[in-house]
Amino acid sequence: MAKLGLETHIVDKNIYAETLKRFKERKIKLPTFSELANPTTIPASIRDSLKNIDINEAHPLNLFRIHWYNDPKSKNFVQVPHHLVLGKEITGVDAPIVVMIGANFPMITAHKVLAAYSCLAPRIVTGQFNPVKHRAIWPSTGNYCRGGVAVSRIMDCHGVAILPEEMSQERFDWLNKWTLDPKQDIIKTYGCESNVKEIYDACNELAKNPDNIIFNQFCEFSNALGHYTCTGKAMNDVFEHVKKSNPNAKARAFISATGSAGTISAGDYLKEKHHDLKIAAVEAVECPTLLNNGFGAHNIQGIGDKHVPFVHNVMNTDFVIAVSDANTDNMVTLFNHEIGKNYLIKERGLSKETVDSLSYLGISSIGNIIAAIKMAKYYKLGKDDVLLTVATDPATMYSSEIKKAIEKYHHNNYSTLKAAESFGQYLKAVTTDHMEELTHLGRERIFNLGYYTWVEQQGVSIEEFNARKDQGFWNNLRSYVPKWDKLINEFNNAR
Ligand SMILES: Cc1ncc(COP(=O)(O)O)c(C=O)c1O
Repeated sequence: MAKLGLETHIVDKNIYAETLKRFKERKIKLPTFSELANPTTIPASIRDSLKNIDINEAHPLNLFRIHWYNDPKSKNFVQVPHHLVLGKEITGVDAPIVVMIGANFPMITAHKVLAAYSCLAPRIVTGQFNPVKHRAIWPSTGNYCRGGVAVSRIMDCHGVAILPEEMSQERFDWLNKWTLDPKQDIIKTYGCESNVKEIYDACNELAKNPDNIIFNQFCEFSNALGHYTCTGKAMNDVFEHVKKSNPNAKARAFISATGSAGTISAGDYLKEKHHDLKIAAVEAVECPTLLNNGFGAHNIQGIGDKHVPFVHNVMNTDFVIAVSDANTDNMVTLFNHEIGKNYLIKERGLSKETVDSLSYLGISSIGNIIAAIKMAKYYKLGKDDVLLTVATDPATMYSSEIKKAIEKYHHNNYSTLKAAESFGQYLKAVTTDHMEELTHLGRERIFNLGYYTWVEQQGVSIEEFNARKDQGFWNNLRSYVPKWDKLINEFNNAR
């Protein structure tokens, strides 16, 4: 059980005591999951102090900003999470596509710091991680490890990032600044986005040293629970807000590209509130693992592939939608290159404000939007049918990738004509290809594929593997969150 992060008692009293001492010295308090889901319950004194703290500082109080309710324009919290409502002028479909923005999370400008905190906090308050002695190992395709390194830095401990060598330069630039010892604390594994097996291998090697604690987001249920509790609630708040301007609005789908499959757990929360809602997992056409048991390399960074994460509630997933990285690379270029932006304003009649807001969308965010367009076309959705999704990180994480895309697709010569071609080919012409509405059999096919990673390679027992087939397992998991919150409160008060 410890391997899957599900402990609700103090496992090691000495570790607990040493951690308490470190937290006292550094004046670190931990927010509860409940506070991160409802930031208005964060004490007013903390909210006031945050007004003097930069959102990108490694400051302990920034832990209280690990939620969706940060105001992009000030240091305050907002009632409704920052979101974009993309209309027909961009998407070509009547159904509004609502995108909740991850760029306002602290320190890493991506929501993956929530997953990192969700994996860390239960370990801290159950005496399983000692920041004085242990190294925190964060296996990732680039954003989760940045989140992990950020929270490790706050505790003044070594956070080690493991990520494939081909991830965007911006990720490595950030890590070079934030790791305590970049030479030792940044581990580059072979390959690109879809080489997750190599990441597991590096973790297994490091795990031989008991001072290395692996926070494996792909199998720590607290990752999924953090998103269920915080992202699910935030996305629902956004929907309720949208509904105020259209009382007939219906939440039709939650669409999420899956890396660790943490974010998609928000769909479980939303489905409980909106029974007709469908949950769609998004992956790359170039590596259609869920769609077709397929493999391959691609550039939709953040979507780890060639495996089914252990924390993915596959039997509650309704669609798999694959999107090509040619679409996402070309759209991130169109939305952020001056020539592309001018084209959208002058030729497509978009407002400057709308075009500027598209910079909140990183590559996987655009993948989510294209998948939502496919869903809208598949069901022929209308203006009352709302599609919900997230933008994990913004385009600023991909300036170097935009340069590469211009070289690869446009021979280093981007022009208004190329922008127009891209808009037509990669956005307007999106169809319902590469998608599957899952039947029971389809879900079982994907579920069973996970066997090879988890039982054969990673040593999970067959009982633990199979237990996840039953929705009762997932319902039961939710009872862990209040238990951890109680432990967090006790930990905070023990000082
Ligand atoms: C940019 C980006 N998009 C999407 C994802 C997938 O999110 P999740 O791991 O919650 O499935 C990640 C994960 O790291 C990511 O970094």
